[in-house]
Amino acid sequence: MTLAVVTLAAGKGSRMKSDLPKVLHKLAGQPMLSHVLASASQLPQASLHVVIGHGADAVQQQITDFPVQWAMQTEQKGTGHAVAQAMPVVDPQSTVLVLYGDVPLIRSATLQKLLDESHDGNALALLTVELDDPTGYGRIVRDDAGNIQAIVEHKDATPEQHKIREVNTGILAVSAQQLNEWLPQLSANNAQGEYYLTDVIAMAVAQGVAVRAIHPQDEAEVQGVNDRLQLAELERVYQRQQADELLRAGVSLADPARLDIRGTLTAGADVSIDVGCVFEGNVVLEDGVQIGAYCVIKNSRIGAATQVETYSLIDQALVADNCQVGPYARLRPGAELQRKAKVGNFCEVKKAVVGEGSKVNHLTYIGDAEIGKDANIGAGTITCNYDGVNKFKTEIGDGAFIGSNSSLVAPVKVGAGATVAAGSVITKEVGADDLAVARSKQRNVQGWARPKKK
Ligand code: UD1
Ligand code: CA
Repeated sequence: MTLAVVTLAAGKGSRMKSDLPKVLHKLAGQPMLSHVLASASQLPQASLHVVIGHGADAVQQQITDFPVQWAMQTEQKGTGHAVAQAMPVVDPQSTVLVLYGDVPLIRSATLQKLLDESHDGNALALLTVELDDPTGYGRIVRDDAGNIQAIVEHKDATPEQHKIREVNTGILAVSAQQLNEWLPQLSANNAQGEYYLTDVIAMAVAQGVAVRAIHPQDEAEVQGVNDRLQLAELERVYQRQQADELLRAGVSLADPARLDIRGTLTAGADVSIDVGCVFEGNVVLEDGVQIGAYCVIKNSRIGAATQVETYSLIDQALVADNCQVGPYARLRPGAELQRKAKVGNFCEVKKAVVGEGSKVNHLTYIGDAEIGKDANIGAGTITCNYDGVNKFKTEIGDGAFIGSNSSLVAPVKVGAGATVAAGSVITKEVGADDLAVARSKQRNVQGWARPKKK
C-alpha cells in the first residue's frame, strides 16, 4: 500500500504579522514546512503533496529539497476543502496522511504509529491529545463505551462538549478511497461556514468504518504555530531536544539551554562546548574537541583535540587535529589548517592552507595562500592577494619566518627557511634560506627641533 502525505499550508498566518508565508518562517534555520516534509520523508513509500494558497509562489520557490506535488487552494474554505484540492492527483489506492505545515515538530515515529493504527487505511486513525485547556480545539466526542463518535469544533460545541479535554490535533490517516467518497459530501453549514475535514469522522462512524485514536510521545509534536511567540517556544523545545541528545551521546555542554544547532552536529567522544555557541549546516567535531564560549561554526570539520577559543567564527573550513584557533579567529571558506597549526586572535584565513605546526598568531590576513610546515607568520602580516580585479597566490615554504607587519604582494613566493624582515613589502620571490629586507633604511637626524606653535 502506498502512502500519500497531504500537508496543509495554504493559510495566511495573519498573527505572524509578516510578508513571509507562515510555513516559511524558520525553526532551527529551516522553514517549518521543511521540518514537516523531512519527517514525512522518513515514512516508507511516501509521496508528498502540499496544499498552498497564500504566498504560494514563495513557498514553491523556497521548498526545493523535497519531491513535492503542489496543489493550489486559492480560497481558504476549510481543512476539508484544502485536502480535497490534493485528491485528484493522489493515488486512489493509497493511504492518506494529513499533516500541517505549521506543526513542525511532529515525529516520524508517531506518524508510523498512526499509520499502523489505520491498517492500510481501512480504519480512520486520529492523533489526539488531552489538554488542561482545550479552548479553541475540536473536541473528540466518545460514546459511553469509549468509542469515538465525532469531532465537534469549539465554535460548534455545546457547553457540555466544551468540558471534553481530549482534542483533535488535526493529524489523521485513512484510505484515499474513503476520502474521495466523504469529502464531496462535506457541507459548510456550521459556525465558521467552512468545509471541516473533521466532519468525516461522523461519516466514518455512520458507515461502520473503525475510528481509532493514538497519542503523540509529547505535546510539542502537535503544537501549531500561529504567532512568533509560539514559534520561539518551539525553537527552544527543539534546541533542548538536540542538546539532550548530545548530552546522552557523551558531549559536555556548559549549559544545554544555551546552544543552537541549525543543521546537524556530529560529535565524537569527550567533546566539550561552552555557552552561546551556534552550529549551522553540517558540522563535525572529532574526539576531544573543545569549543569556547560564543563561537559560530558552519559547515566545517574540526579535528581531534583541537581547541577553538572564544568568539571564533569558522565557515566551510577544515581544521585538522591538535590545532588551536582563536580567540577571535575567523576561518572563511577554503581555510585548511593542518595538524598542530595555530591561528590566533584577529586573524582571518580564506582559501589558504596553514601547514603542520605553522603559526599565524595575531592580527593577520592570509588569503589565497599556501603556507608550509613550521612557518611563523608575524603579527600584522598581510597577503596582498587582490589587485582590485584579480586574485593571486602567495606561497610560503617550510620553516619560513615572516617578520611583523609585512605585506606579501601576490603572486609571490617565500622559500623554505627564508626570513622576511619586519615591515617589509615583498614583491619579488625570496629564495630559500635568504633574508629579505624590503623597507626604507632608518635615518636619524641628531638634535632635531620640533616645530613650534606660532
Ligand atoms: C483545526 C481542526 C480542529 C483541531 C485544530 C488543531 C478542522 C475543521 N478543525 O482547527 O479540530 O483541533 O485544527 O490545531 O479541521 N488550512 C488550509 N486551508 C484552509 C483551511 C486551513 O490550508 O482552507 C490550513 C491552515 O493553514 C492551518 C491548518 O490548515 O495550518 C489548520 O487550519 P485552521 O483553520 O487553523 O484550523 P483550526 O481552526 O485550528
Ligand atoms: Ca489552527
